[in-house]
Amino acid sequence: MDFKPKRPQKELKYEELRIYTDEELHNYTEEELKDFKIKHDIPDLEELEKGPWPSFVADAKREALHRKKLPKDRMMIDQDVVDDLLGQLQLSFDDGETHWKHGGIVGVFGYGGGVIGRYSDVPEKYPSVAHFHTLRVNQPASKFYKTDFLRALCDLWEFRGSGMFNMHGSTGDIILLGTTTEQLEPLFYDLTHELDQDLGGSGSNLRTPSCCIGKARCEFACIDTQDLCYELTTHYQDELHRPAFPYKFKIKIDGCPNGCVASLARSDMALIGTWRDDIRIDQEAVQAYIRGEIQPNGGAHSGRDWGKFDIQKEVIDLCPTGCMVMEDGKLVINNQECNRCMHCINTMPRALRPGIDTGVSILFGAKAPILEGAQLAVLTVPFMKAEAPYDNIKELLEKVWDWWIEEGKNRERLGELIQRKGLPRFLEVIGVPAAPQMVKMPRTNPYIFWKEEDVPGGWKRDIKDYRLRHKR
Ligand code: HEM
Ligand code: HEM
Ligand code: SF4
Ligand code: SF4
Repeated sequence: MDFKPKRPQKELKYEELRIYTDEELHNYTEEELKDFKIKHDIPDLEELEKGPWPSFVADAKREALHRKKLPKDRMMIDQDVVDDLLGQLQLSFDDGETHWKHGGIVGVFGYGGGVIGRYSDVPEKYPSVAHFHTLRVNQPASKFYKTDFLRALCDLWEFRGSGMFNMHGSTGDIILLGTTTEQLEPLFYDLTHELDQDLGGSGSNLRTPSCCIGKARCEFACIDTQDLCYELTTHYQDELHRPAFPYKFKIKIDGCPNGCVASLARSDMALIGTWRDDIRIDQEAVQAYIRGEIQPNGGAHSGRDWGKFDIQKEVIDLCPTGCMVMEDGKLVINNQECNRCMHCINTMPRALRPGIDTGVSILFGAKAPILEGAQLAVLTVPFMKAEAPYDNIKELLEKVWDWWIEEGKNRERLGELIQRKGLPRFLEVIGVPAAPQMVKMPRTNPYIFWKEEDVPGGWKRDIKDYRLRHKR
């Protein structure tokens, strides 16, 4: 199915949006870079220019030199911002401590989040990073870009910010790293009016949803992760921009159980693609794997000699449920016992494919350790269809939000609320009957609550009736 945006998409043309000329963009030579020293001594950071991995210090120095050679009036924040950032970082290396002040509350009118304010605690030494706010910009689903967009964004950020990015933040956003409070509104204006681009989330709200590359480039994708991600992002813009929750809430979407955006670990609501019919088997391709004509795992282990592919050893014996056998030279899967772990499909992608009756499993409550300990998400909806406009998923999500907004304590993640109130209560809230798939094993302790209506006679007992039969 083709992607259908909710409103006309602006076709961005860099040539119409550009701020800098080609001469301004290519304003230094590699020779100049070699001799270039930034404003501060940074001996420890310079150590990090050595070695084979791309060095963030080397990159930052390029940017520092580039800014030094741009005319001062072609940038709205201090020319030396990169120098001062590296200077302050060196100081932190010396002291073993951060030099950012606590907190910082800045933003743009109309929104309650999207900007993380930050101030240096040594501004007299590093005046250009006295203000060093971060903007979160909502990335396109799966982070596919055209150079027109990226170049226009780079020009804008060079003009109104430090020129430094984080591509991308862990939640998914494009991170614009470092600008002053005065630049926030003009930046926001340019982002929205010129680049047709909104901020992402921060604070006690819906954070920027993200997804794996899904059907764009992966034959394992059981659902259109990008369409779903885009739909939820646009549908819940209010929840994303104006914090209304007890705490943060994240949504991530994986197209299959391989979990390439780690939704299971890093989102309060994880939507994970799956199927409920049979794995599709191409027996001829299975034979080609056995004959060694196709490399197992798409050649992922070709860096070492693991011997000839052995389907028994590498697939059948590793199936966690033991539901595969070879019968008369044919691979047979007992799909009723398959738990859709992906192992066999991952190993023989040209022979095996997920089924065609696809949807999502929905898991809630993942979070990092603070306060009550780290949690992976818990399976609450084993299977749900995931087709545009995803009303069933939205309905479920809104039930969860209604409950958590009402019952959640200040700064209590959904996962902790489920822990505090119990999974049975959570299931009641979302209207899903308890099922064996929701637990790894039944409880071992006998501290079992019963509802009064489920117990004959209820809870109201008179001790005198008891004493008629039992003497003290
Ligand atoms: C005929 C004699 C006894 C009977 C029929 C009896 C029965 C029981 C039962 C049914 C329980 C509850 C088990 C549960 O909740 O799973 C229990 C718990 C307990 N009983 Fe007895 N009991 C007897 C004698 C005693 C004596 C003599 C002691 C100590 C001197 C004792 C100490 C305990 C303790 C400490 C528990 C609590 C265990 C826990 O909560 O984990 N019981 N007993
Ligand atoms: C200084 C003496 C004692 C102290 C400090 C003490 C302390 C405790 C504590 C802290 C608990 C756990 C309560 C809970 O988890 O909710 C407990 C449970 C229990 N105690 Fe004691 N206890 C003492 C003496 C006794 C004696 C002498 C008996 C019996 C002869 C006894 C029988 C029990 C039983 C049956 C339980 C289990 C209650 C339940 O599971 O609900 N205790 N006690
Ligand atoms: S999670 Fe599955 S569908 Fe998504 S990119 Fe990874 S392997 Fe492909
Ligand atoms: S997906 Fe996993 S459980 Fe299912 S047949 Fe393949 S290896 Fe076995």
